[in-house]
Amino acid sequence: MPIKILIVDDIAETRESVKKLLSLDGELSVVGEAANGEDALKMVKKKKPDIVLMDINMPDINGLEVTERITVRYPDSAVIMMTVQGEIEYMKKAMLAGARDYITKPFSEEELIGAIKKVYRLEHRKKNKGAVEQVGRGEPQIVTLFSTKGGVGKTILAANLAVSLYNMTHKKIILVDLDLQFGDLAALLNIMPKQTISHLVQETGEMDLELVESYTVKHTRSGVDLLAAPLRPEYAELVNSQHVEKILKILKQSYDYIVVDTSATFNEINLTTLDLANQILLVKCLDLLTVKNAKIALEVLESLQYREKVQLIFNKVSKEGGLRIEDVERTVGATVSHQLPVEDKVVLNSVNKGIPFVLSNPTARISQGVEQLSWTVIKKGKKGQEKKGFLKKILHR
Ligand SMILES: Nc1ncnc2c1ncn2[C@@H]1O[C@H](COP(=O)(O)OP(=O)(O)O)[C@@H](O)[C@H]1O
Ligand SMILES: [Mg+2]
Repeated sequence: MPIKILIVDDIAETRESVKKLLSLDGELSVVGEAANGEDALKMVKKKKPDIVLMDINMPDINGLEVTERITVRYPDSAVIMMTVQGEIEYMKKAMLAGARDYITKPFSEEELIGAIKKVYRLEHRKKNKGAVEQVGRGEPQIVTLFSTKGGVGKTILAANLAVSLYNMTHKKIILVDLDLQFGDLAALLNIMPKQTISHLVQETGEMDLELVESYTVKHTRSGVDLLAAPLRPEYAELVNSQHVEKILKILKQSYDYIVVDTSATFNEINLTTLDLANQILLVKCLDLLTVKNAKIALEVLESLQYREKVQLIFNKVSKEGGLRIEDVERTVGATVSHQLPVEDKVVLNSVNKGIPFVLSNPTARISQGVEQLSWTVIKKGKKGQEKKGFLKKILHR
């Protein structure tokens, strides 16, 4: 999308020449012109420009005052002052009025376009940050990846989702590896943990946040924490569902997102995890067996009354599969919320290096797909919060 610009100057010739300069750049689009302050305010309201180029001296309301009004009423439009006065005093006033930058006439094409793009970039970054902060707040989210079949990509997606959530929110994120027998998360992140969940549950003291946190490891490459699976399959049975319940509840005191990887069965531990989850990502692949499985899994989840928090994710999607998503949706009776492509090279490379692909290969299609998935997770978390707030309001009336 081009950067939308409004030109405000009482001299038609100036507007014309500025417009000409701007037309040289394909990223810029002049959406309107105004010859006085009143018109400028009307145009800002109507056209919602990203950038307003503002002359200081105008017949009716002067540019400084118009700038002040725009800044207060339409903070999404950033003002750049154009002035003949090179005086510091004037510039100070312009900045105080809320202008983001100023350029002195006569200016070159580079000066003008440079200032516009700089201001636009800064504003854009500010807005994005605000957006993430806004949706990132809310109840801590336990996000459980689940499937009734192994090999569908739960673990790969869990690791990349957690890292991606961290990149987007910079909140406290932990991965919990509840594939207790064959947990791979540590290996995927190239971490060699000494402490794992099986060590934690053997502690005799009261389990609290401090204790649990002392058994986590930091993935320094990303900033995500990990509570690793036992080092050997036979230690898995040390961990029971009461432990899991306690640990997840404790982690909620401190973490914003708790991403849980599971094994592919409806056992006691997984049921506990699904029960505590705010969001369940049911991961599937596009073959007839998994599709049949998906239907059954959804039915079970429905009977457990988890349906509302389940999202259906299809991984390793390719054109060659033969099955079409639409057909699958019809068979399963549910819509697919995300599809992730098969990308053997990217995934293999990431696995072998122990670096999540969202870090090593952020532009790959699968990385982009995981990023979209993170957005949904962030937004869903926020929505759940709103719903609860709404219910509370009704109940307390
Ligand atoms: N989108 C993908 N493209 C290519 N290979 C994938 C993709 N997702 C997962 N894989 C591969 O599939 C295998 C199973 O992934 P994994 O995450 O261990 O599944 P699960 O945890 O469900 O058993 C791994 O070898 C992984 O590299
Ligand atoms: Mg796995």
